Amino acid sequence: MVAGPPSAHAGGAPGSASGFGLGLGAPEGAGRALPLVDVDPTRSGPVPTGLDELDRVLGGGLVPGSVTLLGGEPGVGKSTLLLQVLSSTARAGAPVLLVSAEESAQQVRRRAERLGPLPPGLMILDGSDLSALPAALRDTDPALVVVDSIQAVADPGVPGTPGSLGQVRACTDLVVHLAKAHGIPFVLVGHVTKEGTLAGPRALEHLVDTVLGVEGDRHHALRTVHATKHRFGPTGELGLFEMNDTGLAAVTDPYRLLLGDRRPGAPGSAVLPAVQGQRALLVEVQALTARTAPETPSRRSAQGVDGGRLALLLAVLEQRAGVTLGRTDVFASAVGGIRVLEPAADLALALALASAVSDRPLPPDLVVFGEVGLGGEVRQVPHAPRRLAEAARVGFRHALVPEACPDGPRGMEVVHVRSLAQAVALATGAERPS
Ligand code: TYD
Ligand code: MG
Repeated sequence: MVAGPPSAHAGGAPGSASGFGLGLGAPEGAGRALPLVDVDPTRSGPVPTGLDELDRVLGGGLVPGSVTLLGGEPGVGKSTLLLQVLSSTARAGAPVLLVSAEESAQQVRRRAERLGPLPPGLMILDGSDLSALPAALRDTDPALVVVDSIQAVADPGVPGTPGSLGQVRACTDLVVHLAKAHGIPFVLVGHVTKEGTLAGPRALEHLVDTVLGVEGDRHHALRTVHATKHRFGPTGELGLFEMNDTGLAAVTDPYRLLLGDRRPGAPGSAVLPAVQGQRALLVEVQALTARTAPETPSRRSAQGVDGGRLALLLAVLEQRAGVTLGRTDVFASAVGGIRVLEPAADLALALALASAVSDRPLPPDLVVFGEVGLGGEVRQVPHAPRRLAEAARVGFRHALVPEACPDGPRGMEVVHVRSLAQAVALATGAERPS
């Protein structure tokens, strides 16, 4: 057996297949086969960012030589979050570099001062010309580089304006190359359109190692961070932040934001123990129905819940559970600016709707979860014990759950249901002793 020609190692041509290796900077034994037992698994492990909620999502921190794309709608807090990560890394003693193509150095300084004392190791490269980056890396030898944003920088050697398909691709290729060659983690900001796609080519997501999304409602303080792609760990973890006057703070008590203003016993409200990654979180799902004005089409509005599931559940309620809607406008939302898109949310959404239509509240200390099928059956969902444990911890005493779900912790009464019709009857009181 003869080994083939030495393969291009990390730091090879940008965009070459080697550029997407495990992204660990100059690898041990590059170009040469070596026993797997001789590989040091701790080398180039994740380095904490200093923000625990972000490290939870990343599975420990940023991996040297990796490229992470942080997407989110304009104004959601991407620049703020990354400025905090840069400051925290710089405060720990390592120089860091911000390539700021959207805001001037003066603007960034003003914002950074709101977030805390300015560490001297926080360097800024102001402008959109990415050809200045290699020299800046040599000058500053940073432990972390942020490019804000990938749609605002340009490589002068490539035709096209910043944000164009060719430029975004070329700039990302260059960043991937520099990250691998220097073994530095890079984070790129990417603006997301209202429809939820990254402005610029989707192909960007394939070029990077990790894709994170920041979400949140402008009018609420809560911001969530989650990974949709992660080469170095699981996706699905949720980081929770609160936007306040001094930037994004870790949320220690999510229920102040999520359930603080809830009116227990109000019709059209159901509480769902949602699960994201390792975390169970109680979320209030609300529904409101109102007669549609004459000669206008019925409205359907879904905020933080899946619009497609809402339409489906309305049909199942009518056809399988005897809940007559008629010509009705329907509004449904998850409270607090959080999104619950898992099928386990079906039963909560359906019962909030049934409760709104009948104007009968659900019991105030009830939680519900379960997927609803087209036949009106209530289906099993994952992580039932975790959902029940969190509900019990926060003080809920009753749960309406799918048939196959285990019993809950001590002190919690768990009622198993097979069908949506049965759940509606039990929860809205048609079968409750009056
Ligand atoms: P920003 O990080 O600029 O958003 P993005 O980079 O995603 O476009 O955040 C902008 C919003 O955050 C803006 O509306 C002001 C608000 N904000 C605060 O509430 N507190 C703060 O400390 C900072 C820096 C910003
Ligand atoms: Mg910004």
